[in-house]
Amino acid sequence: MNSSKILEIKNLSVTFRTSVGEVPAVRGLDLDLKKGEIIAIVGESGSGKSATARAIMGLLENNGKIKSGMANFTYSRNGETVCCDLLSLSRKEIRKHINGRRIAMVFQDPMTSLDPTMTIGKQLTEGMVIHYKTPKKEAWRKASELLEMVGIHDAEKRMKNYPHQLSGGMRQRVVIAIALSCNPDILICDEPTTALDVTIQAKILDLIAGLQRKTGVSVIYITHDLGVVARVADYVAVMYAGRIVEKGTANEIFYHARHPYTWGLLSAMPSLDSSGDLYVIPGSPPDLSGYKGGDPFADRNAYALNIDRRIDPPMFRITETHYAATWLLDPRAPKVSMPAELEVRIKHMRKEEEYGI
Ligand SMILES: Nc1ncnc2c1ncn2[C@@H]1O[C@H](COP(=O)(O)OP(=O)(O)O)[C@@H](O)[C@H]1O
Ligand SMILES: [Mg+2]
Repeated sequence: MNSSKILEIKNLSVTFRTSVGEVPAVRGLDLDLKKGEIIAIVGESGSGKSATARAIMGLLENNGKIKSGMANFTYSRNGETVCCDLLSLSRKEIRKHINGRRIAMVFQDPMTSLDPTMTIGKQLTEGMVIHYKTPKKEAWRKASELLEMVGIHDAEKRMKNYPHQLSGGMRQRVVIAIALSCNPDILICDEPTTALDVTIQAKILDLIAGLQRKTGVSVIYITHDLGVVARVADYVAVMYAGRIVEKGTANEIFYHARHPYTWGLLSAMPSLDSSGDLYVIPGSPPDLSGYKGGDPFADRNAYALNIDRRIDPPMFRITETHYAATWLLDPRAPKVSMPAELEVRIKHMRKEEEYGI
């Protein structure tokens, strides 16, 4: 894998203006995407995942504001390497040069991205015809190849269908095919399988991983479900209350997590042998309106220290790739390790992986 950075997000902060004041939705987020890599952004609903993606794509709602940050995107134009800060481009520039062409996005509900009045074929070929001036006939041929690639086998017939004639899983495949039609460098998927049932979810994930290998596209995969990313992600960033609280390679996050919130997510993951009630992280994500400082996770954290009430923990470096924002990693903190039941569970997961179960 080529390890050059294709997207480098630095200190991104986003707020939303609301009737109760400014809500900090993303707070100083740093994240790198390397070429050909699949990274996952994981966190409960409201943690700032979509706001992050929308901010870099110039798609924030009108009451949203980028308070700070850079999102340096490196791509090749006419054989030359170009780097630009997406956050400094106007919405118009992003729409014209970036959106769809170089960075494509897939949302949770395929119906919001598909036009109910246009055939699948027309929607698939539109981007190629407009952005690349591809002749219609060739675009049509490419579109049917794309449909085959996303696992729709009666492509020629489906091209003449309207969205309502397809199942939910098939519509999401079409949306992914449209996203890939302009050969983007980055594909951002924001909870693309949430509305689908579990078996179809797994198929779409395998599809995305397969497409990544085939096309070399770099992927940001957003989900509230840590379990689904285990099979596809190279790198995982865990978000809580607008911050990345832990990030590392999939191996580091699944087998060597250091943040109590990640322990909670791992414990809450259904497994092959899970019987009975699943663990649920107690409490709910905080309301950040009127946020005054301190670690917003403290109230739900059985391992919270006094300092958490006053000062939000900095990011501690564990390895070159693994970081976590918890005071437990401060040398002065009491020594705490993950809950014993979780350790047993992780050993189990490793065995399952080793034996390919
Ligand atoms: N348009 C908006 N206006 C006001 N608040 C918003 C808006 N969009 C998102 N938020 C708030 O910003 C925070 C992050 O939201 P979001 O990025 O959508 O979370 P996620 O995608 O992780 O579920 C939440 O507290 C949410 O309520
Ligand atoms: Mg979201």
